[in-house]
This record gives sequence, C-alpha cells and structure tokens, in this order.
Amino acid sequence: MKPIISPSILSADFAHLAKDIEMINQSDADWAHIDIMDGVFVPNISFGFPVLKYVAELSTKPLDVHLMIVEPQKFIPEVKALGAHTMNVHYEACTHLHRVVQEIREAGMQPAVTINPATPVTLLQDIISDLYMVLIMSVNPGFGGQKFIPHSLEKVRQLRELIDYAGANTLIEVDGGVNLETGKALIDAGADVLVAGSAIFGTPDPIETIRQMKAL
Ligand code: DX5
Ligand code: ZN
Repeated sequence: MKPIISPSILSADFAHLAKDIEMINQSDADWAHIDIMDGVFVPNISFGFPVLKYVAELSTKPLDVHLMIVEPQKFIPEVKALGAHTMNVHYEACTHLHRVVQEIREAGMQPAVTINPATPVTLLQDIISDLYMVLIMSVNPGFGGQKFIPHSLEKVRQLRELIDYAGANTLIEVDGGVNLETGKALIDAGADVLVAGSAIFGTPDPIETIRQMKAL
C-alpha cells in the first residue's frame, strides 16, 4: 500500500502561504499537516486559528491538525470549525485521554494521539482500538528541520505489533526529520503516514519530492 503523505506547512513560506498551499493542492500529497504550538507545551509558538481559517479555506486536502499545546480538549470546537479531518493531541498533554478521544470523535473528527520520543508505545495499549491514528514524534516537538531520532524506527515496529495484537486498524504516522531516506526505513518498519516539512519545502521542486515520497 502506498504511504499517506502529509506535508507540514510549518516549513512553508509564511509570506506566501497561499502559494505553498496551492502547491500542496496540486501535488500527490494526501493531507496537509498543521502544527499548532502554544509556547508552553513546546518552546515555540507557530500560528493560531485566525491564520488557519484562511489555510483551511485554501486547502483542498484534508487537514491533519497536530496540537502541541496544553489542554488541547479546550480547542475541539475551534479545530472542528476548521473542518479538520484528524485532530492529534499529545498523550503527555491529556490527563483524561480516553475522554478527550471520545470528545474528538463525537465532534465528527478522527482522533489521533501523539507521543513524544521518551514516551513508550506500550502506554497506548488500553486505548489503541479507539484511535484512528497514533503519531510517533521522531524529534522533540517544537521546531522543523531537526535530526531524525533513529530509535523511532524501533517504536514503529513495536506499535505495529501492538496494533496487530489488538486486531485494530489504527494508522501509524511519523513526524520529525522525515525525508526520502528515513521515510523509506519508516515504511519498511510499518509506518502508514509520513509527515515532512523541511524535506519537502527545502527542495527546489517540492511537487517532485512529494511524488517521490508517495512512491516509496
Ligand atoms: C515539529 C512538528 C513537525 C515539523 C516537522 O514539532 O510537529 O510537523 O513541521 O518538520 P521536519 O519535517 O522539518 O522535521
Ligand atoms: Zn507535526
């Protein structure tokens, strides 16, 4: 099966955001990945809902929204209003994760749970069947352009086993330092969805790079 490709607009040219969203629209990308940061959960601030309203209007691809914020459950209505396909919340940011997952589903979105590099996949054992997707961070969240953490490959393998053992069909997404080389290794390890920012927007021909990722 071909991987799902989700370009991260965090690496787009914010002065010409419409142009870069149009590039994603024209490409083989499946989704558009949106990184929301609050300067508390992660040491950076990206963009908020007033900007994303326009991104959502311009994008013809389903929005894969990744919230790197504390108390993400407070923003379920705002993410829903964007028309998001998937809402990713961090395991580390949700005390009552089960409740948050149900609320995301009740709001009509696909629930996904993201884990930081130091969070073991086994902690998802009791919730895996309720999840549309798990997002494994292969860098510490907060910034684009960081180096891929090799241990993430082992986490993908472990998660694939956990999903198969549960008889679930949860997708495995990976985010951080993903390029054509690490992307290939991730797919071989069992990943379904690749997020890539700098490896797409930092190349001379992003449409061609997306095509090559899709063909991995
Ligand atoms: C990082 C974000 C990523 C980021 C990935 O915290 O969650 O989505 O855009 O950027 P690259 O692909 O450059 O590592
Ligand atoms: Zn992300």
